[in-house]
Amino acid sequence: MSLIKVENLVKDYKINVKKKGLVGAIGSLLVPEYKMKRAVDNISFTIDKGETVGFIGPNGAGKSTTVKMLTGILTPTSGNVEIGGLCPYKQRKKNASRIGVVFGQRTQLWWDLPVIDTFELLKHIYKVPEKVYDENIELFSEMLGLKDFINQPVRQLSLGQKMRADIAASLLHNPQIIFFDEPTIGLDVVAKEKIREFIKYINKEKGITMLFTTHDMQDIEKTCSRMIIIDHGTTIYDGTVDQIKNRYGKTRTLIVEFGQVYDKIDLIPGVEVVDTKDNKKWLAFKKEEVHISSLIADLTNKYSILDLTIQEPEIESIIREIYEGGVNYDKSLSGGGKEVLSK
Ligand SMILES: Nc1ncnc2c1ncn2[C@@H]1O[C@H](COP(=O)(O)OP(=O)(O)OP(=O)(O)O)[C@@H](O)[C@H]1O
Ligand SMILES: [Mg+2]
Repeated sequence: MSLIKVENLVKDYKINVKKKGLVGAIGSLLVPEYKMKRAVDNISFTIDKGETVGFIGPNGAGKSTTVKMLTGILTPTSGNVEIGGLCPYKQRKKNASRIGVVFGQRTQLWWDLPVIDTFELLKHIYKVPEKVYDENIELFSEMLGLKDFINQPVRQLSLGQKMRADIAASLLHNPQIIFFDEPTIGLDVVAKEKIREFIKYINKEKGITMLFTTHDMQDIEKTCSRMIIIDHGTTIYDGTVDQIKNRYGKTRTLIVEFGQVYDKIDLIPGVEVVDTKDNKKWLAFKKEEVHISSLIADLTNKYSILDLTIQEPEIESIIREIYEGGVNYDKSLSGGGKEVLSK
């Protein structure tokens, strides 16, 4: 059964249009002029219990706006949102007890208080039983390395420390669903990896359902099984991470380590050398045009070969292509939990 249901969701923002110059500015104050901006344009999807969904899209695509509607911070202009049968903006308090939210751009921790005091406050706000609280503090401290700074005021913390404390704070009350809106933004690779490991663990051990917004495709590859891509407020892809690689990552690379250095090699049609280093060559080809077995057979017939490695397409390059419009999609089909991209 679906835990999250989003149906034809729309959000329009009212933007105050400021006129130029002093006279214009005064005019704007006296007679404000507005225009409407559609940030989310008819999005539909459902998420089942325990699913891990990457929610991605270029800047300004409408991701944060959607997350805000799912968490009850914003009221939709039209459409429906249901979280475990609740309407988030109407039943905000009840919904809050079931969800956890991290906005990487903004902390929910009390700036002047030590981290542990925020945790204590949240324990009271969410009425977390003592035992659950103690267990969680221990688990999160251990896995996120909070011990070093748990007694320090939040304003003294580094970005990575703050983010780890924020993530712990969002999970103290054992929510069923977690919304992560860029929880790895600005972090170094080690810190990101630590957070991904933790996310994977809580998903597996606690069965938490997750919607994860990020611009780092490694976050998605390592923690999510499904991916929803939105652009200009509409869904352009909804499917598994593997599917997108198989269907849209059409170029493969075969890395060949030859027994000697060859300046030039003779290749079957459709294959080209994209890089050379000493006795190694990187051969690129389209998987529909060239059978990998024919390519390998041809090479081993003609040359002495020490090693062969097939490189799968990087998810980053596929997504880049989609964002840049290299993969066409049919907007009329968008939403509804189905794949809408087509090459
Ligand atoms: N409070 C607001 N008032 C007016 N327009 C807004 C407001 N918040 C967002 N927008 C606009 O709505 C659109 C979607 O913004 P949103 O923050 O949802 O994008 P996003 O996908 O989260 O982008 P990013 O990857 O940069 O975080 C943008 O065009 C943005 O300028
Ligand atoms: Mg955002």
